[in-house]
Amino acid sequence: MKIIVAKDYEDMSRKAFGVMSQVVRDNPQAVLGLATGTTPLGLYRLMIEDHRLNGTSYGGVKTVNLDEYVGLTADHNQSYAYFMRKNLFDGLDIDPASTNIENGAAGDLPRECARYDALLDEMRQDIQLLGLGSNGHIAFNEPGTPFGSGTHEVRLAQSTINDNSRLFDRVEDVPVSALTMGPRNIMNAKKILVLASGENKARAVYGAVKGEVTESLPASILQRHPDCTFIIDEAAAKLL
Ligand code: F6R
Repeated sequence: MKIIVAKDYEDMSRKAFGVMSQVVRDNPQAVLGLATGTTPLGLYRLMIEDHRLNGTSYGGVKTVNLDEYVGLTADHNQSYAYFMRKNLFDGLDIDPASTNIENGAAGDLPRECARYDALLDEMRQDIQLLGLGSNGHIAFNEPGTPFGSGTHEVRLAQSTINDNSRLFDRVEDVPVSALTMGPRNIMNAKKILVLASGENKARAVYGAVKGEVTESLPASILQRHPDCTFIIDEAAAKLL
């Protein structure tokens, strides 16, 4: 596990861009595992800027996203599919058909999980980007998720609903469940890049990096990955 402490959010995003763009340069057909949330927005802006200014092409790249809310269609403005189009894909030359995310509006959710699991087995991520929940979750794998889980439906922890409610008009509007890659799918990536910014992530970062490897803190499993890098800002590194 490699830990890089960045000065602040901008510096974290720049350093993350360095890692991500190297993966795409090394393999223009790379499979990128992507995340939503506030943390990767700076990185996504830099990817778009680099594409515009330097012509870096994503024409051969494929993507798989971590998770999607249950009950929201891909055109709902709070869905993660919409988030990805708006914050990244629309600014790149990526083929929309090469982008993948769980269908949270599927009628048969267990079947949708099985479909996504099979897809991930076929499309092993060259890099998987992760944010960190303040409770140590990765994707929507909440504390207590068995490390061996594949793609599954999860009821969101109240702390996650509260954290995410800032993006909705009312806390009651936040979906109560989601489909998520499991720890097994994340650990299958060739390389993992975890980003964290801000003091409210400091405890989770400490647990993930220095704590016991335990299902009570899902991110602690990353200690077992052979190529995992944390890029965190000084505030998130406060307890290390
Ligand atoms: C997002 C995801 C979540 C977030 C985490 C941090 O696809 O799976 O695990 O990465 O909740 O969210 P932010 O970045 O908003 O602090």
